[in-house]
Amino acid sequence: MLNIAIDGPAGAGKSTIAKLLAKKYDITYLDTGAMYRGAAYHCILNGVSPNDTNGVERLLPNLDMDVVYEDGVQRVFVSKKDVTPYLRSLDMSIAASDVSKIPSVRVKLVEIQREIAYKRDCVLDGRDIGSYVLPEASIKFYLTAREKTRARRRYLEFLEKNVETTEEKVLRDMQARDKQDTTRDFAPLKVMPDAIVIDSTDLTIEDVIEIMSERIDAVISC
Ligand code: DC
Repeated sequence: MLNIAIDGPAGAGKSTIAKLLAKKYDITYLDTGAMYRGAAYHCILNGVSPNDTNGVERLLPNLDMDVVYEDGVQRVFVSKKDVTPYLRSLDMSIAASDVSKIPSVRVKLVEIQREIAYKRDCVLDGRDIGSYVLPEASIKFYLTAREKTRARRRYLEFLEKNVETTEEKVLRDMQARDKQDTTRDFAPLKVMPDAIVIDSTDLTIEDVIEIMSERIDAVISC
């Protein structure tokens, strides 16, 4: 089984790279962040703040989440409804980070993630893939970039989607989220000793793919 783990902070390019690797190696791309976003969406829809641990825990047994693949593209269903189009907003990013601090939420979502990863070759991106979801992953990458570069990339993505925001707001939200994701008690984002660290600040997407592919090919040929 081939499991490629890509962890790193927001805006490092994890999902762009993971999608391209999935295509290149003809394997599944599991976007675990979308699952935390789906959990946050479920809370908000039910009038519960993603920060309200007791409220979220009460709601958790009713969280019915399915991750399905349509033409190779991941869709997240909550209560049988495809919520994928609602998950990428700035507000939902922060809400996902909030809800992801709650251990019982993580346990529930990690179970689904492992179920998928144990059954098929895949590349997974997130914050705790190499440290907690799949400590035995075939290969682990930690993808990062300078903070301002990451914020700029995210801002340009929002501009492209005609979302009104400012680069300063994107940077502030990103800093808050990174702080929360790296300092939470349960399965925080961290660099694992066996992870290959790639700083993409001065690299193109193609450069990153080339560096990762060399390492992945070496693992495959072993
Ligand atoms: O990767 P993303 O930006 O879609 O993730 C949204 C939030 O979900 C992120 O700020 C923290 C949380 N998350 C997590 O805690 N663990 C993961 N494996 C993936 C995401």
